[in-house]
Amino acid sequence: MENQKVLILDFGGQYNQLIARRVRECNVYCEVRPYNLPLNEIQAFNPIGIIFTGGPNSVYEEGAPKVDPAIFQLGYPVLGICYGVQVMAHTLGGVVEPGKVREYGQKIVEFDTDCAIFAGLSKKANALMSHNDTIYQLPQGWKSAAVTDSCPVAAMYNAEARLYGMQFHPEVTLTEQGTEMIRNFLYRVCGATGDWTMQGYAETAIREIQEKVGAGKVLLALSGGVDSSVVASLLQKAVGQQLTCIFVDHGLMRKNEGDEIEGIFGDGSINFIRINAEQRFLSCLAGITDPEQKRKIIGEEFIRIFEEEAKKIGTVDYLAQGTIYPDIIESGTGESAVIKSHHNVGGLPDFVDFKEIIEPLRQLFKDEVRALGTELGLPDHIVWRQPFPGPGLGIRVLGELTKEKLDLLREADFIFREEVHLAGLEREINQYFAVLTDQRSVGVMGDGRTYDYTIALRGVVTSDFMTAEWAHIPYEVLDKVSRRIVNEVKQVNRIVYDITSKPPATIEWE
Ligand code: XMP
Repeated sequence: MENQKVLILDFGGQYNQLIARRVRECNVYCEVRPYNLPLNEIQAFNPIGIIFTGGPNSVYEEGAPKVDPAIFQLGYPVLGICYGVQVMAHTLGGVVEPGKVREYGQKIVEFDTDCAIFAGLSKKANALMSHNDTIYQLPQGWKSAAVTDSCPVAAMYNAEARLYGMQFHPEVTLTEQGTEMIRNFLYRVCGATGDWTMQGYAETAIREIQEKVGAGKVLLALSGGVDSSVVASLLQKAVGQQLTCIFVDHGLMRKNEGDEIEGIFGDGSINFIRINAEQRFLSCLAGITDPEQKRKIIGEEFIRIFEEEAKKIGTVDYLAQGTIYPDIIESGTGESAVIKSHHNVGGLPDFVDFKEIIEPLRQLFKDEVRALGTELGLPDHIVWRQPFPGPGLGIRVLGELTKEKLDLLREADFIFREEVHLAGLEREINQYFAVLTDQRSVGVMGDGRTYDYTIALRGVVTSDFMTAEWAHIPYEVLDKVSRRIVNEVKQVNRIVYDITSKPPATIEWE
């Protein structure tokens, strides 16, 4: 049975994926599509409701994204957010003009709780506003459903037509009761039943994979990251021995990581091949200090090894990939509409003999992939694994790589991660790791002079990894990490904490 679906039409706002995630959190499946999706495709999508997102334009400007007024005749409930509500007002005969006062940031909003969107909520709450333009006249038949001290129409609705809109952003946490508003739209207006659950998804995905794959062979490059691990687990349940996972251990993993991955997938229920290629990588990398060259060598060698192993298996029917939904969402605003291609294991499809690609996570957001992993029984340390770059510790040992330096970094990094875990901070800091700098400095230990390495600690808070703030890890935690590393790891006598954000720095040091 198909899930109920909500269609999110993207007008180019910055929180569009967040809207989709909120809808999914309410157990309703949704997809983001460009705002100009033709009406027949909207009908073919068969949504229970439509959400118009925010966007950077002004509705009255030439070239601003518009909607076909006929969309409101199709009988679907619509919720417009920010630009989305303005475009509704403008299209249906209301007046949108530059506001006398611009509203940016949190504002107190007063709601009409007779409006279904605000039913059951407190009458006054903070909401995130971010607009220049204001609706000054409602379209005929509409009512204002919320006001602020400077915005006469902070929300509006036409209950009979099942059309609703709000000027503020219910999808962000700065808007109190925001998720409840979205939930109200879904359940009170669209008649959602909440049929989108990870348990249901797992069952359906396993069945669909079985139907598609039949008796065919499936190949997966397993990196141990969240996405490829969840794909492996799903395929393991669906097709068992027909799956071969190749795990290329480049010797640049963190402490115990390779063995942990083998421990989970090497139990014989699938064909699990671990290639211990540390020697091979280290000899290719000997004498190389340039970061880009290191990345290139690691990437190429990885593909070469994968290819060699895949050839031994012969032709496979399917190559599985861990592509997730954010990788394929097409932006709504035209010019820069690019579909990002997934490049976890860059370029593999060109090298390997297969008939078709299967991407069982294509519909899922990262948080859903994690929930699915838990549903499938994967342990927390895999499900909540922080992002780890393909080149691994190869780009966290600055300058030339040696086994000795890698081992030293592994120990320091392990201590840092352990202390972050003990302090209960691991889900608050999105990525944290140690870097072995190429810098030595003078220290004193006991009565002797030392001349040893500096370890840099890095921790960032970010939602998209495109920009990031350095994490304000409590001094007590940093202090403990510093003492432990210097005491427990030989050849390290100095610890620094990286307090640069991205930009201007990047998250990794190389
Ligand atoms: P930067 O250092 O560019 O990193 O701020 C942003 C995020 O991407 C990760 N990263 C990589 N991931 N292959 C990957 O799969 C790579 O070559 C790579 N380089 C950086 C980095 O860990 C951070 O999460």
